[in-house]
Amino acid sequence: MKILVLNGPNLNLLGKREPGIYGSQTLGDMMKGLQDHGRTKGVVVDWHQTNEEGCLVSRIGESQGVYDGLILNPAAYTHTSLAIRDALQAVTVPCVEVHLSNIQAREGFRHTSLTAAACLGQIAGFGARSYLLALDALLGHLKLSVK
Ligand code: DQA
Repeated sequence: MKILVLNGPNLNLLGKREPGIYGSQTLGDMMKGLQDHGRTKGVVVDWHQTNEEGCLVSRIGESQGVYDGLILNPAAYTHTSLAIRDALQAVTVPCVEVHLSNIQAREGFRHTSLTAAACLGQIAGFGARSYLLALDALLGHLKLSVK
């Protein structure tokens, strides 16, 4: 079982970026925690971060037949990207959308996600734990036992 985690723009700056909103952990720390969590369930977790929309589109398209599931934090592209939504709809790989912050409790322009409708669901507001919850939800969907 292989899961790909895709992280969008500015998430490479976690740890330094607005720690009052996003916390003090780096993305590397969060992804290591997620990989450890996956290992306890016998799942391989690969991850990638990019600041480029097209790169996210390509990675989603290339996931077909390679990965069993996707976890996606599209970051600001959540609110703007039809291309990412179309990419998610173009593959049959199930995806869970993740946000560290509760986007519904923030500025109005963050309340709309163009990408969530192409996902199984969205988990937002739990900081790094959002990724762990997303993995459990995805594995539950894939009918693996969730410990
Ligand atoms: C974010 C929320 C987005 O609105 C924002 O643009 C981000 C991070 C989150 O994880 O809370 O870059 O996706």
